[in-house]
Amino acid sequence: MHISRLKLKNWRNFKLGEIKNLPETVYILGPNASGKSNLLDAVRFLRDVSKHRGGGLQDAIERRGGVKKIRCLHARNDTEVLIEADIVDDRGLLVWKYELGFNIPPQGKREPRITKEKVTSFGKDGKATILINRPQKIDKKDELLLRETHLEQISANAKFRELVNFFSDVTYVHLVPQLLKFGDQIGGRVMDDDPFGQEFMLRIARTPPRTRDARLKRIEFALRTIVPQLEDLKFLKDEITGFPHLEIKFKHHRPQGAKQREDQFSDGTLRIMSILWLLQEGGNSPLLLEEPELSLNEEIVAQLPRIMASVKSKSRSRRQFIITTHSQALLSNSGIDPRGIVVLTPSDDGSGVRGVSGDEQNALNAGLSPAEAVLPNARKTRQFEFSL
Ligand SMILES: Nc1ncnc2c1ncn2[C@@H]1O[C@H](COP(=O)(O)OP(=O)(O)OP(=O)(O)O)[C@@H](O)[C@H]1O
Ligand SMILES: [Mg+2]
Repeated sequence: MHISRLKLKNWRNFKLGEIKNLPETVYILGPNASGKSNLLDAVRFLRDVSKHRGGGLQDAIERRGGVKKIRCLHARNDTEVLIEADIVDDRGLLVWKYELGFNIPPQGKREPRITKEKVTSFGKDGKATILINRPQKIDKKDELLLRETHLEQISANAKFRELVNFFSDVTYVHLVPQLLKFGDQIGGRVMDDDPFGQEFMLRIARTPPRTRDARLKRIEFALRTIVPQLEDLKFLKDEITGFPHLEIKFKHHRPQGAKQREDQFSDGTLRIMSILWLLQEGGNSPLLLEEPELSLNEEIVAQLPRIMASVKSKSRSRRQFIITTHSQALLSNSGIDPRGIVVLTPSDDGSGVRGVSGDEQNALNAGLSPAEAVLPNARKTRQFEFSL
């Protein structure tokens, strides 16, 4: 399943925005501070509400510093924060629609309350069934019920567990090479879901050996197309400390080649390996990936969409990837599906979101890459005024 439509109202720097017909791979483009991470955060928010442990609406809002921090500073009369998501199955047929609105009530207790929660399921014939539509009578009688979503309540979500699991299994990653390498030595707090890759080696260690070896083989194969000297990517445990490690052999003038462990890999090699690993991790829910191009050289970045697509299809994953990027090289790949390009357009009144425009589509049809046809328009930043 994947998200095919996302609508945001008063979410961070989006006063109102909607993206539709999203495919399995989505690239979000925009200059710094245009809201790429904020857009991903709306999906993470639904994850945080649905999470089986430590989830829930109040917690998800509080962690973000309260409604005041979340609500768009450009909101005027209508101050409700609203997220809507449509979920389609692997054939692209609409299966779920989830709508969640919340606000701080005008009077009484100033704790956030749900203003709308609606779950609609769609049958094979496309017939819609509304499973919940709140506030309902009982919520009006006991307004405290509007503290919590039905999404987070096991007793209330039996009819849409599939949707709950879809959201709760969303993964967000913003890999930091140094944490990937030295996570065990740096220690410190690991956030839910390990977004920065501190426990990446443990993640590999916890995977059953057959699956692990199959994934590493696919990574090795894919990497060899860009680093031909590389061979034999292996998982092993340090004999003395018991710590898990990755090892690669590089073909070399010596017959045995040179062996390297992950702390000797280049930042880029390790980062690309982790990305390729994550692409293969099971699951049916979106993987939100921040700027995969970081610390990779442009020639490799240009090949990333191809490599990612190939590893994904070999592992038969149907997981959706939502990727933020600034990279010209990444978007120079003409194989990118234009339906998956989302452009953020900053203005003085918050950011807008849009798909590929008619002119851009014509340019793509004429053979230009997204980097040539779309990126220059996405780079136009707002004009800042300076007064001395
Ligand atoms: N409630 C809000 N209302 C309006 N703007 C907000 C709100 N919350 C955050 N912002 C602003 O949104 C902007 C975009 O932030 P975000 O981190 O999503 O940008 P980005 O596109 O990911 O940038 P980068 O490329 O630097 O990672 C920031 O300037 C931030 O100040
Ligand atoms: Mg960002």
